[in-house]
Amino acid sequence: MLKNDMLDQWDRENFFHPSTHLAQHARGETPNRIVTGGSGVYIEDRDGNRLLDAFAGLYCVNVGYGRTEIAEAIAEQAKELAYYHAYVGHGTEASITLAKMIIERAPKNMSKVYFGLGGSDANETNIKLVWYYNNMLGRPEKKKIISRWRGYHGSGLMTGSLTGLETFHNKFDLPFDKVIHTEAPYYYRRPDLGMSEADFTAHCVAELEALIEREGADTIAAFIGEPVLGTGGIVPPPAGYWDAIQKVLKKHDILLIADEVVTGFGRLGTMFGSDHYGIEPDIITIAKGLTSAYAPLSGSIVSKKVWDVLERGTDENGPIGHGWTYSAHPIGAAAGIANLKLVDSLGLVKNAGETGAYFVKTMKEALSDHANVAEVRGEGMLCAVEFVEDKAERRFFDPAAKIGPQMAAALLKEGVIGRAMPQGDILGFAPPLCLTREEADKVVAATVKAVKGVFG
Ligand SMILES: Cc1ncc(COP(=O)(O)O)c(C=O)c1O
Repeated sequence: MLKNDMLDQWDRENFFHPSTHLAQHARGETPNRIVTGGSGVYIEDRDGNRLLDAFAGLYCVNVGYGRTEIAEAIAEQAKELAYYHAYVGHGTEASITLAKMIIERAPKNMSKVYFGLGGSDANETNIKLVWYYNNMLGRPEKKKIISRWRGYHGSGLMTGSLTGLETFHNKFDLPFDKVIHTEAPYYYRRPDLGMSEADFTAHCVAELEALIEREGADTIAAFIGEPVLGTGGIVPPPAGYWDAIQKVLKKHDILLIADEVVTGFGRLGTMFGSDHYGIEPDIITIAKGLTSAYAPLSGSIVSKKVWDVLERGTDENGPIGHGWTYSAHPIGAAAGIANLKLVDSLGLVKNAGETGAYFVKTMKEALSDHANVAEVRGEGMLCAVEFVEDKAERRFFDPAAKIGPQMAAALLKEGVIGRAMPQGDILGFAPPLCLTREEADKVVAATVKAVKGVFG
């Protein structure tokens, strides 16, 4: 389809790619894949490769590629009304309808949706709302945000600070001092190998309590966490984690922001990750699966408890001073409606739970015994394989060996896209929620070959 021979050169000369080794790319040392199409769980590139995308883009194309229902909804909306803003009470049929659909699906006690463009800006919104909330409650000192090491919450200044991964801090002068990090709920990397899962949960809770004690609860506004750690390594929490953490937060009147950018709209086999783990958030971040990335759209779902204070705030201070030109963009909203309808009609939440469980189980059976496979873990349609040099001693590879990237490259040769997670030798999978068992088998078989290819 795309036959322009200049594309490679134009790309290297003009295009500033995100999350890319800029120098290597400009010098032509790294491949540039020009993606031309997609259908179901497959993408195609202009060199004629057809690849099974077992990471759904960036865990976002939940309904799979090539869904004409969404494409048509977008086209219809663009023809009827491509844009109008949402300031001072304006709306469109699409944005209002989508807000209603989201609240209907959200965990209990959720009240309103503020629409943004992507997960990062939604989390920026959340922090502003939390600060506004505490100012309204006469607690101007209660502003720090607790995040977890290995959490991922975006690439902005504040959200990059919330993110607990080195590559998003180094050389950017982050994190800001209003953000404080606590232990990652990552059982495999527990500080003491002798700890049981329950011991480790207790350890995470003790670390949180100690942090709150050190900083002072009256300086801490909120705790933000992904129900399952995503970019930090695809790590389901240890047993009892969310119950125990929530007790501490309640005790200290600290709001809970559930960052459901990855887990929202079905990925764990429940509509929200909060439903899955019994989390009762004050604010929920949504993006990715809201439109399956057919158009950019995100949201902050605000609970009644927070909303009531915000409402009061505008009675006292006038209109809320927060808005984006593209908030509630009608094209994104139209995509969102069509997408959520598809999630329902195709039974994708159920499939994510059932086929996801099959996928993780099959991956475990195929690889758990390998000498360099530390663990295979997952929840719903999320799966990760972590590699170590020495399993018995839990000795990690030297990062310079780049085992993770080698593994992703070997997998690609087998026609499957997985993701080398940025911190650790971890191969991550987050396929579209429409994955079938046969496709799951293909991903597992390709991973087994990749592991053989790298370790011999
Ligand atoms: C949990 C989580 N929060 C926020 C974000 C940021 O979203 P975006 O890249 O759309 O800004 C991501 C992106 O991967 C994410 O995984």
